[in-house]
Amino acid sequence: MVRKELEQYLEFLEISGIQDIYFSKKASAEKVITAKPSAFVSNTKGQKLEALQNAYKDCQKCELWRGRNKFVYGNGNPDAKLMLIGEGPGAEENATGQVFVGRAGQLLTKMLHAIHLRRDEVYITNIVKCRPPNNRDPLPQERAACMPYLLEQLAIIQPELLLLMGKVAANTILESRDTLTKMRQHTHLFQGIKTYVTYHPSALLRNEHWKRPAWEDLQMLQRDYEALT
Ligand code: URA
Repeated sequence: MVRKELEQYLEFLEISGIQDIYFSKKASAEKVITAKPSAFVSNTKGQKLEALQNAYKDCQKCELWRGRNKFVYGNGNPDAKLMLIGEGPGAEENATGQVFVGRAGQLLTKMLHAIHLRRDEVYITNIVKCRPPNNRDPLPQERAACMPYLLEQLAIIQPELLLLMGKVAANTILESRDTLTKMRQHTHLFQGIKTYVTYHPSALLRNEHWKRPAWEDLQMLQRDYEALT
């Protein structure tokens, strides 16, 4: 039975365009394959995302689960052309299960409005889905453990543009150790998707001077987004 479920799961990943999967040595088969096969044959992108969110909500692939109140998978439009990636949930997100709902989230909503986008038009998620203690940066092993979830979200949503917000998101996705200043100097390609890098909204709350360059990044992104529609 487990073998059959595993085969169906692998088939689902293949259809979704996933080429690599990462297994934690510590994870038991039960923990890795928690979803019922029916979760993987749902039709719409929204149903697929919901099924996967349910499948992973009790994940214990890294130690971040210990501080978890809610697994913060992602929110927004499953058919979005633009996907935004932040770092990891903060206290409000851990309490509610929704991404970017604290102060940084409120600023993000305003930034999106400034380029004529609503939150429900885009899809927003994070590098890690559980809150790091005291909002510290997620560790390399925590980012690696969560990466398959993000790759699945990308494979399902198939956005045409990506916005990486902050150094953690950009360093992780672009597998780069460059500074944010360097990474936001030009666009990148991630899995064939045009990818912008900008400041994390929390950084903008800390340093007003970064608002002007962040606005310039967003305006370039807006031009590309409007050319798509
Ligand atoms: N910061 C993030 O990176 N993500 C959130 O969801 C909230 C704050």
